[in-house]
Amino acid sequence: MSEPYLTGRREGAVEYLTLNRPDVRNAFNEDVIGQLTEWAARAADDPTLRVVVLAGAGKVFSAGADAEWMARMATYGERENLEDAQRAAAMFRALNALPCAVVGRVHGAALGGGSGLCAVCDIVVAAETAVFGFTETKLGILPAMISPFVLPKIGVSAARELFLTGMRFSAQRARDIGLVHRVVPEDTLDAAVDDYVRELLSAAPTGIAAAKQLIPQVWGQRPETVADLTAATIARQRVSPEGQEGLRAFLGKRAPGWVPKGAQ
Ligand code: COA
Repeated sequence: MSEPYLTGRREGAVEYLTLNRPDVRNAFNEDVIGQLTEWAARAADDPTLRVVVLAGAGKVFSAGADAEWMARMATYGERENLEDAQRAAAMFRALNALPCAVVGRVHGAALGGGSGLCAVCDIVVAAETAVFGFTETKLGILPAMISPFVLPKIGVSAARELFLTGMRFSAQRARDIGLVHRVVPEDTLDAAVDDYVRELLSAAPTGIAAAKQLIPQVWGQRPETVADLTAATIARQRVSPEGQEGLRAFLGKRAPGWVPKGAQ
């Protein structure tokens, strides 16, 4: 039985999930990967969960893959490494596929897989002092498992620069390339996260889930290729209970039923 490396706090429809291995700057090994994957499976099945705020305990968000774990893996053969890498890839896929909204709260540093975790968040708010980096090539490896999630965020040009050099970059640069959405002074990080949480709680949960599903299906496609898909998606949402409630509320000049009391 591994130590618990995740701390969860639930406030209504919002879960505050914290990576809790501060002694090694929330680096993740096979235990953290297992726990995050199990957590994501439970979260995906929880219709009452609408927003997750992912943060790191201690000085930084996450220093990425645990160097000791990687060194241990390097003593195993290629087959064991393949299985291990597939478990890590499954964790990123599970987090990326969550139907609820995921907000990253990044302070200190998000390096290697820590920047990869940012890429599977829907929204990332970063302290202006935070540093980012796809530092893997500096360690003789490469950002492979996170690349399917990072590339759609930062694009090919920035990936060629940042994956190849492994250089660290600022929160401002992370925002310029699309990895981060808002950069704020560290003492206002929680307030900036709260702003996004409020916005998300005023949006329809099934609308959020459908939008998350739609975006990767449409991205890079010709409009005519996805015309049927986009029409079917909006038709389904219009006749759904939330599609109908949203319009009724708008026309009736009241808040829709999914907006928490007190947030209206
Ligand atoms: N894996 C395992 N341990 C790590 C780690 C990692 N990825 N990153 C940091 N640690 C450990 C350090 O070895 C150190 O352990 P010690 O106290 O036993 O010496 C402890 O965490 C604190 O690290 P330190 O560098 O002193 O903390 P810091 O707050 O000054 O800096 C970072 C934090 C994240 C900026 C810095 O630790 C760092 O750059 N780490 C490397 C991150 C990286 O390149 N990750 C890519 C992995 S592919």
